[in-house]
Amino acid sequence: MNYIGSKNKLSKFIKSEIENVVGEMKRKVFCDLFAGTGAIGRVFKTESKRIIANDFEYYSYVLNRNYIGNHEEIEWFNQVNELENLEGIEGFVYKNYCLGSGSKRQYFSDENGKRIDAIRQKIEFWKNRTKIDENQYYFLLSSLLENADAVANTASVYGAFLKHLKKSAQKTLQLKPANFDLNDAEHEVFNEDANFLIKKIEGDVIYLDPPYNARQYGSNYHLLNTIAKYDNFTPQGKTGLREYKRSLYCQKREVENVFENLIENAQFRYIFLSYNNEGLMSVEKVKEVMEKYGKYDLVDKPYQRFKADKTENRNHKASETLEYLHILEKVK
Ligand SMILES: C[S@@+](CC[C@H](N)C(=O)[O-])C[C@H]1O[C@@H](n2cnc3c(N)ncnc32)[C@H](O)[C@@H]1O
Repeated sequence: MNYIGSKNKLSKFIKSEIENVVGEMKRKVFCDLFAGTGAIGRVFKTESKRIIANDFEYYSYVLNRNYIGNHEEIEWFNQVNELENLEGIEGFVYKNYCLGSGSKRQYFSDENGKRIDAIRQKIEFWKNRTKIDENQYYFLLSSLLENADAVANTASVYGAFLKHLKKSAQKTLQLKPANFDLNDAEHEVFNEDANFLIKKIEGDVIYLDPPYNARQYGSNYHLLNTIAKYDNFTPQGKTGLREYKRSLYCQKREVENVFENLIENAQFRYIFLSYNNEGLMSVEKVKEVMEKYGKYDLVDKPYQRFKADKTENRNHKASETLEYLHILEKVK
């Protein structure tokens, strides 16, 4: 998934820096507290004692519940096959986010909107009839989210839709399975505010990747929450927005306080924080806060970030930023 702040492309760098500091991960509990797509938890899943993954957006919980939480073989082939072959339904997504329904919004082609409705309703139906268990439920929902996102008619996020259906949005949604790594460990996946959860968990290594700027994930990915929750609400305005949570990490006046509170309450020996040089907190501020709680270090990496360009669909403009990894060995 093309996600703001995704560490997919940086995961090798982050993994090797973490291992340089903490050594073998085999017997360690690793927490990915702002997990997003789960990119970092996933690289440690088969190599650590246990992963704790968390994010306060529900679509992210669904992805992590599958990619991290699922760790044993599940049966999915027949279900995916049946979902792929369903007849489309004029449901909530079609009625509110496709042009053909008269909604004036075009986040999906009419065909894909109806496909999403049919697939989503069937998954819920199976769950209610206990035809699938929880592990299968989140696997199928993740598969739907990933594949719906791949045919969304947006520049990259759901803050706006494009006037004309772009090429990738014209393709028929295929339900490619959201495969996950198998391993023996039981992992924990949460859907909570980081500052609340931090008081209830402990472990060896925690990775923090909060938002850097004012862009709220809840508004930028509202349609993923809508597909994941499939609840009933009145979509608001031109973009059909739903109510969304506002993260204090996206607010200049709040971020330093919540960040320090998080570091203070963290019951983990090693803390790693990803943050870039364009963030709401300066490098110096982050350093000043972290240094209070133990032995601090900093590594960086120039990084080609891709900015969505509204006029050119998903042709992104590259811009170079410095990606920082702040490191703290906590002693207080
Ligand atoms: C930079 S992204 C993380 C990206 C992730 N590392 C990846 O590679 O996909 C930041 C994430 O923090 C989540 N978030 C923002 N505020 C939060 C909070 N207070 N508690 C928990 N999660 C939060 C957002 O929903 C978003 O998924």
